[in-house]
Amino acid sequence: MERVASLDSLRNLCRPAGQEHLLAHWDRLTEPQQKQLASQIDSVDFGLVTGLAAGEGFASEAAEIANRAEPPEAVPLGSHYRGFSPQDALEEGNRIIAAGKVAMILVAGGQGTRLGFDQPKGMFPIGPVSGRTLFEMHVDSLKGAMKRFGVSIPLLIMTSPATDALTRKYFEENDRLGLREDELILFQQGTMPAIDAATGRILMDSPFELALSPDGHGGIVSALVKSGVMETMRSRGIEVLFYAQVDNPLVRACDPILIGYHRLAESQMTTQVVRKRFAKERVGNVVQIDGRTHIIEYSDLPDALAEQTLPDGSLKLWAGNIAVHVFDRAFLEQAACDAEALPFHRALKSVPYVDSEGNRHKPATPNAVKMERFVFDLLPRARRTLVVEGDAAEVFAPVKNAEGSATDTPTTSRQAISKLHGTWLEQAGWKVEEGVQVEIHPLWAWDAVEVRDKIQGQGVVLADTYFT
Ligand code: UTP
Repeated sequence: MERVASLDSLRNLCRPAGQEHLLAHWDRLTEPQQKQLASQIDSVDFGLVTGLAAGEGFASEAAEIANRAEPPEAVPLGSHYRGFSPQDALEEGNRIIAAGKVAMILVAGGQGTRLGFDQPKGMFPIGPVSGRTLFEMHVDSLKGAMKRFGVSIPLLIMTSPATDALTRKYFEENDRLGLREDELILFQQGTMPAIDAATGRILMDSPFELALSPDGHGGIVSALVKSGVMETMRSRGIEVLFYAQVDNPLVRACDPILIGYHRLAESQMTTQVVRKRFAKERVGNVVQIDGRTHIIEYSDLPDALAEQTLPDGSLKLWAGNIAVHVFDRAFLEQAACDAEALPFHRALKSVPYVDSEGNRHKPATPNAVKMERFVFDLLPRARRTLVVEGDAAEVFAPVKNAEGSATDTPTTSRQAISKLHGTWLEQAGWKVEEGVQVEIHPLWAWDAVEVRDKIQGQGVVLADTYFT
């Protein structure tokens, strides 16, 4: 009786949206399968999907606004900004972190398709000597910050249905990597169904599963609220959220200078950028359009605009997004009230599916539209933003692509970590032999200054060494 009633209610959800085919296999499903399908259908915002299928709710065509893109006003590397020196920023950052008002967000819900690793990317071993995972690199950096500032800093990790169970298991089995129970909060982002590009119908991954994928890192805004994490942060007195991606092991957790500039400039959302190495580098372009900060994806910036240069030959649109942001909690809360207003970006992909007769198809060419929200679309919504330049060698070594690709592979990332740590040792008067890998644990030394304090006399690193 109950099953029939639930089938009716599901029909009432699907039919007006033209998605009744989702129930085509219902009578052949087992009860657990029916439950799974019912809960997935229940999670779909059919109004939103119908609108998107009709082309509404997408980000405006980047090409339309890209013509007006100017370079952002940015705090130059290691320099003064509106009367504030890096030392002022450091002191302000130190103060607010030590006061316990900062938390760190790590987004780890992506499917990591390009890397081709069959576990959550955070579990990928990346330490050049230690073999520590991406999660360990971030947690250790955060522990380094906690030690330096003598304060507990909560770590908020966003997972997705694609990564949640394994990520939770990983942290449970590894004693939360040494974090206290109240220092580690995992919360899950939402999903979006893939729709058939020709018909707008939601694709099915199996007779009882929709073809769902994470709703993009922009899903964090509503996920923080729905999970109650935003409220927890407010009740704990957190004012600033430092945001980073799990796939960049060079991020310095809660970088005090970045946070300090953010506070001194009274910014609502601050973003760290690096100088692009070449015009079409595969990073988002941080630009200013009509007085607002925007990020235009590399794929959306026409070549002619990307290649513009200044009289000194340098790139006009020079600022590359590395997805390190600082948010005022209050700004994020405000954005969350209107989270649905964040636009979607569409990607045409080949998505395998099961048709209404139960036949499985594996299209060789793109057949489906996947829809994601991007966190950086919050930038133009902020009244006050700040862009701060960082040195790529110190802050950016992403793990995006499988070994053998030209850029952003595990090897290039490990090399960058070893090179940076080698530079810190050399600045302290040591020498690192050619070809030798070095790695410094953040609890041994968190930055170049701490390495200098730690090391006495002169020395030569002759073999791969992990300073721990
Ligand atoms: P990417 O856009 O590089 O995606 O995510 P990805 O899933 O890691 O890799 P590909 O594109 O499938 O190869 C950048 C960061 O945003 C997170 C990822 O976990 C990564 O830290 N992310 C991405 C989410 O948390 N949720 C998403 O829906 C998408």
